[in-house]
Amino acid sequence: MSDQKLILVIGGTGAQGTPVVKALSESGRYSVRVLTRNVASEKATALAELPNVTLIQGSQDSQKDLHAAFTGVYGAWVNLDGFTIGEKNELFYGIRAYEIARYHGVEHYVFANIDYGLRKADWDERYHCGHCDAKGRVGDLILSHGQSGMKTSLLTTGPYMDMLFDGMFVPKAQDDGSFVWENPAADGKIPLIALDDVGVYSLWLFDHPSQSAGLNLEVATDQVSFAEIAATFTKVTGKKGVHKRVALEDYLSKAEPYPDAYANWAVKPTEPRDESFMTWRENFTAWWRYWGEGKGATRDMAFLDSIHSTRIPNLEAWMRAKSYDGRPRSVLKDLSDFKK
Ligand SMILES: NC(=O)c1ccc[n+]([C@@H]2O[C@H](COP(=O)([O-])OP(=O)(O)OC[C@H]3O[C@@H](n4cnc5c(N)ncnc54)[C@H](OP(=O)(O)O)[C@@H]3O)[C@@H](O)[C@H]2O)c1
Repeated sequence: MSDQKLILVIGGTGAQGTPVVKALSESGRYSVRVLTRNVASEKATALAELPNVTLIQGSQDSQKDLHAAFTGVYGAWVNLDGFTIGEKNELFYGIRAYEIARYHGVEHYVFANIDYGLRKADWDERYHCGHCDAKGRVGDLILSHGQSGMKTSLLTTGPYMDMLFDGMFVPKAQDDGSFVWENPAADGKIPLIALDDVGVYSLWLFDHPSQSAGLNLEVATDQVSFAEIAATFTKVTGKKGVHKRVALEDYLSKAEPYPDAYANWAVKPTEPRDESFMTWRENFTAWWRYWGEGKGATRDMAFLDSIHSTRIPNLEAWMRAKSYDGRPRSVLKDLSDFKK
């Protein structure tokens, strides 16, 4: 019989979960069960071809599906998707997923977290970003239950470095050959995380339970302002990169996925919603404030070096490794599904 430990990965077909599934599979120490709404999707079938990876069909917002998914697993890596299920459901199912994991005797639970911006900004409502705070609240709560019975770790990411390819961080190519990032970011440093390193940190959390139990591992590859992103782009590509700061109001109406979109933009506009649902604009107003002002630049880079000595050292190295040229490439599954 195999002595591999079985890990349930929720969100495994997504941008963040895919490198986690790959790292666990490649290690040879773990087998992986991926929860997906569609076991026949391109991303799901590609994962199922990896060694020791199986799929289970179900939804994050179904307690029945969560019970089936958590049955018989040693560990779990859980990334809920606020852009589909919304802030309120993320909070409810974030708590239920933890409780159901405990019921099934899961031994190590890794929660894919984001900064609890509202708490870190001293409860200033102007920083209440629904999809970040939903995760942050769940993260605080599950750590508060302590480490006896089930070990719990938080993997706290900020914006993906890979978003420089997709969505709000893609610069616009200008006729004169330069690239412009026109957005409301102030001059704060943003802790960008390269998705390639998310798998390594997740594997470390599972491999080192005595160090990772109770740990909130805030990760980043580099903490950089948008002016620094533009300057690094120029250094790497030889092309002129510029950050142009614009007013939030001017930016948001141009950037939203569709007019008057909700924060959970990735499901149909006609989906029932109540007053707890933020609009996309409200959500990303707080998001740009929090990250753009540098409030998330709290990562302990020396600690990250100590647990992942071969990590991608900085933005420049990432741009070189990816042959970054400012042109868009698909990163988010939701965004690519939405465009289809
Ligand atoms: N973009 C960023 O920079 C960033 C940074 C940090 C954290 N995050 C957070 O990451 C989450 C999104 O994950 P991602 O970045 O990997 O996005 P993604 O590439 O768009 O993937 C979305 C994932 O969520 C899964 N999913 C969505 N609704 C589901 C449901 N009802 N039941 C089961 N699975 C469901 C999808 O699985 P199937 O389609 O296969 O069902 C897919 O695996 C969001 O909560 C976001 O706040 C994003």
